Amino acid sequence: MMTANEIRESYKRFFEEHGHLIVPSAPMVIKDDPTLMFTNAGMNQFKDIILGHTEPKCRRMTDSQKCLRVSGKHNDLEEVGHDTYHHTMFEMLGNWSFGDYFKKEAIAFAWEYLTEVVKIDKDKLYVTVFGGDESDQQGPDMEAYDFWKAHIDESRIIYGNKKDNFWEMGETGPCGPCSEIHIDLRDAQRRAQISGRELVNKDDPEVIEIWNLVFIQYNRLANGSLVELPEKHVDTGMGFERLCRALQGKTSNYDTDVFQPLIQELAKMSGIAYGKDKKCDIAMRVIADHCRAVSFAISDGQLPSNNGAGYVIRRVLRRAIRYGFTFLHFEAPFVYKLLPILVEQMQHNFPEIKTQQELVGKVIYEEETAFLRTLAQGIRRFEAYIEQNQGVHTIDGGFAFELFDTYGFPIDLTREIAGAAGHSVDMDAFDAAMEAQRERARATANRDAWGKANNVWVALSDGLPATEFDGYDHDELTGCEVVAIVRDGESVREAKTGDQVEIVLDRTPFYGEMGGQVGDTGIVGPARVTNTLHHEGGLVGHVAEVTDGAVSVGDRVTAVVD
Ligand code: ALA
Repeated sequence: MMTANEIRESYKRFFEEHGHLIVPSAPMVIKDDPTLMFTNAGMNQFKDIILGHTEPKCRRMTDSQKCLRVSGKHNDLEEVGHDTYHHTMFEMLGNWSFGDYFKKEAIAFAWEYLTEVVKIDKDKLYVTVFGGDESDQQGPDMEAYDFWKAHIDESRIIYGNKKDNFWEMGETGPCGPCSEIHIDLRDAQRRAQISGRELVNKDDPEVIEIWNLVFIQYNRLANGSLVELPEKHVDTGMGFERLCRALQGKTSNYDTDVFQPLIQELAKMSGIAYGKDKKCDIAMRVIADHCRAVSFAISDGQLPSNNGAGYVIRRVLRRAIRYGFTFLHFEAPFVYKLLPILVEQMQHNFPEIKTQQELVGKVIYEEETAFLRTLAQGIRRFEAYIEQNQGVHTIDGGFAFELFDTYGFPIDLTREIAGAAGHSVDMDAFDAAMEAQRERARATANRDAWGKANNVWVALSDGLPATEFDGYDHDELTGCEVVAIVRDGESVREAKTGDQVEIVLDRTPFYGEMGGQVGDTGIVGPARVTNTLHHEGGLVGHVAEVTDGAVSVGDRVTAVVD
């Protein structure tokens, strides 16, 4: 069985043998792009080459890029650890052609690598190609289809829509049709029952995308039109941890040697075996994942702090500490102890983790010490409360709120600790205390005269319930009611073509801006949405330009995320 390091190496060597220059991963923390806080795709570092602003050192390149998806559109944080295939930090294996080879070779390389080099069974693979899109006047990608036909049976080629098979870097910029390779990792019995073809792109945890081949050939302009680029490029991205899982025959990414050394160390430190208790297993996966994200972010120069990217990193680390404290009973710093194992595993491909090891260890240790102290104070406060309220089995919601407000205890942690002591928490009272605090914040905002733009949201939030988020399962919602429109800091009844507004709906599939990354873009009724923002009282504003017609409060519209 190949180890993770051997798998990564075999990928890079394969492409090197085919004329690609092996380049190092770019830093995971981005400092010079206002729209992006962390690298979230392998091609980020090649944006200027693709746009034709810089000449590449070589027309073929390959690497393994460290990526982080903890904020903005690609935010998997809450899933991490609870399932078997989401991560905050992950590696994206990529190969690029800058004006050199195109679809035929990209497809042939990918197929040869998967089926001949690492020898994945062809019967487990499916591919998708772009099926065309009327709004962009694009026909199906017959070229890609025909090139695939030379390698794989036609019953395994599936046409996909714009959402899955037309990759765009952002609202504007390079883009093009893409072709994804999916792998069916179910056991033979389940495969015999339902064809994998039926499960591609259906969120089945065992039929998953592993590689995306993007054929970049257009530039998307701000007016939405596509302009052919002078040169055509190939941009591919393969999920390294998923590939390791497939090649090592595991049912979870966390069972591969990418994560197991960290998890086994946690098991040793806690005296709790992995695989025995669901909650402890989740905690170990969370900590193993977050330890990687935080260590690499710090080694790239991003220290935990109270704002921007630093705050995102602090939150991720605190999440790991909470899981360790609550479920593995760690009361002293523990995350930093995993670092030597991580360095040992990763230093060959990411030497910065070795050179920065001392700093990373120190920063994590100090963060852990401070946060554990706060947690311990909260616990003591909790014990004193129990002592003073003998015989009471329902914890006062106001007290739970104090733990949240003063000691940073998320309500889940309080419920967890209360539950372990045989108590429940009065959640209605907790919610009421939370709401009262929001009211106070609103009143302060009013008094502070933050200016028109803020006050309109304060005023709106008094009369409107929080926008309901309904985007976990779909990118499109029909029949959403327009409950408010804000133009130039004023609440208005209607907006017409050309108006720049923020539209508020009763429910939305759009993710709002978070941790500095821009929110979702897409379409709301007759308007083009360029960002999504959070406001007072949980209201979500879709920052939009009305492109065609008019929209009024009370209208029912369709909301579609790009
Ligand atoms: N840039 C492409 C992606 O992120 C490969 O999926």
